Amino acid sequence: MSLSFAKWERELEAFSSGRPGGSSLEQQFLASYDLPRDRARIGLRYRELTARFGSRYESRELFAARAPGRINLIGEHTDYNGLPVLPMAINRDIAALCAPRPDRRVILSSTAAAFPERSFELEEAISPYAKGDWGNYCKAAVQGLLQHYKSQGRPAESFRGFQAAVDGDIPIAAGMSSSSALVVLSSLLFLQANSLEMDKMRLADLLAKAEHYVGTQGGGMDQAVSLMGRRGQALKIDFFPLRLQAVRLPEGITFVATNSLIEAAKSASALDQYNRRPIECRLAAAVLKKELSRRLKRDLPLRLLGDLNENRLSLVEEEIRRLADSALHEAPYSLREIAALLEQSPEQTAKTYCLRRDGSIFPQPADGFKLWQRYRHVSTEGRRVERSLLALREGDIAGFGKLMNESHASCRDLYEISCPELDTLVDLSREAGALGSRLTGAGFGGCAISLLEDAQVEAFTGRILQSYYRDFLKSGAGETSALVFPCQSVNGAEVLA
Ligand code: GLA
Repeated sequence: MSLSFAKWERELEAFSSGRPGGSSLEQQFLASYDLPRDRARIGLRYRELTARFGSRYESRELFAARAPGRINLIGEHTDYNGLPVLPMAINRDIAALCAPRPDRRVILSSTAAAFPERSFELEEAISPYAKGDWGNYCKAAVQGLLQHYKSQGRPAESFRGFQAAVDGDIPIAAGMSSSSALVVLSSLLFLQANSLEMDKMRLADLLAKAEHYVGTQGGGMDQAVSLMGRRGQALKIDFFPLRLQAVRLPEGITFVATNSLIEAAKSASALDQYNRRPIECRLAAAVLKKELSRRLKRDLPLRLLGDLNENRLSLVEEEIRRLADSALHEAPYSLREIAALLEQSPEQTAKTYCLRRDGSIFPQPADGFKLWQRYRHVSTEGRRVERSLLALREGDIAGFGKLMNESHASCRDLYEISCPELDTLVDLSREAGALGSRLTGAGFGGCAISLLEDAQVEAFTGRILQSYYRDFLKSGAGETSALVFPCQSVNGAEVLA
C-alpha cells in the first residue's frame, strides 16, 4: 500500500462522507461490489489501481474487472474425482484496471511490492516463469485461451495483448484460491481486450484444464465458483460434465475464516504434496476397476473414484461399497504391487498414472501409495456433501456443523492434508463457539472456516484471537482483519467496461 497513513485516513473520510467519486467506471466498480459497508475500502482500492495504471496507456478503452476468491464449505479433494463440492465466492478478490494494447504484449503490474511487474508476448507456446511465480497464473489462462482459439483456426498472432494494474485482498497461500482468482481475472482481461465473449460454464471448464500449466493437477471447483458464485448462496458443483446448483444459505449464520498462518503454497515443492493425492486416487480407481471387474466378470466403466455409483455401475450402492471396501487393503501399496495387480510393468503403471506436467515421473512416496485411505476419504466426503445439502435445506445448522467436523477428521486422518496448527485451530474454534470447523481448500496449512450463529461472531473472534494467535502461536498483534474475517458470499467474476 503506497498511501501514507494520514492520506489514507483523509481519503477514507472523503469516501465515507459520500463525496461524488470520479469516473463512471469508478462508480460502476463501486456499485458492482454491492457491499455498502466496504465502500470506503473499495474506493481506495480503485484509486490504488488508477495510480498503478498511470496515464501512460490508451485509456479510451479502459475497463475494470474482478474475480473473487472462495471458501469451500465441504467436499475437499472430491472435484478431480468426479464428486461434488460446496463452495461459495467471497468478498475478497483480485481486481484490475486494464486497457488493450496495439501489439501482442501482456503487461501485469501489481500494487503489492511482493509481485514484481511481469511482461510476456502472446505466442503459440508461452514458456512458464520459474515455479511459483505469480505471472504463471496469467500465462496459464492466456495459453489455455490461445490453444482453444487455435483449434478454431485463429492463430496467436491475431490477438491483442493488454496492460493491467492488479490489486488483491485475498490472503495469499491461505487456501482461498487467490491463484485461481488470478487465472479467472486474466482470462476476462484477455477476452475483453479482444472483444470476445465466452459462456461462463465453458470458460470454467477451459480454465480448470488451463491451470494445470502451473503444475498442479487440481479439479474445477475454484475456477467455477470464482466465475459463477452467487450473492447469498453457496454452489453445489458437480463435474464431468460441469453442473451447478445454487444453495441458499440459512438466515442467521456466518462462516468465519481464520488464517492458521501456515503457508499453503501450491508452488514449487508443495506441488508434489498436492499432486500425490490425485495420483493416488487415479491408482486406487485403476485397482478397483480391475478387481471389481474381475469379481463381477464384466468390464466396469470406472475411471475415477466418483464413478463408483449406482448409475454408472448398475449396482446398488450397498453392494458397491461392500465390494470396494474389501478390494483394497489398508497397508500402503508399492508401485510394484499396483503394477502386478494391473498386470502391467511398473514402468508402464508409472507412465500412465504418475506423470508430472513436465514429463517426469512422480516417485513412489517413502511411506507408499495409500490407496485405501484416499478412496475412503473421497467416497465418504462425497456422501457428506449430499448430506450437507439436506441439512442446509432443512435448516439443520447443528447437523451441518457436525458434517464439517467429520470432514475435517477425514481430511486429517485419511487424506492427510491437515497440519498440527490447523488441527489446533479447528479444536480451539469449536471451544470458542463454532458449531462446526474444518480446514478449507487444498490443505497443508492455510485457513480454517467455522460455522457460527451471527450473534456469536464477535465473541468467537475475541476468543480465537486470544487462544490461537496469542496463546498458541505466541504472535504479536497483527492486523485482526487479516487473521479472522467473516465471509460474505458474493457474485462471481465480471468485467466493467
Ligand atoms: C485446490 C484445487 C481444487 C480442489 C481443492 C481441494 O483448491 O485447486 O480443485 O481440489 O484444492 O478441495
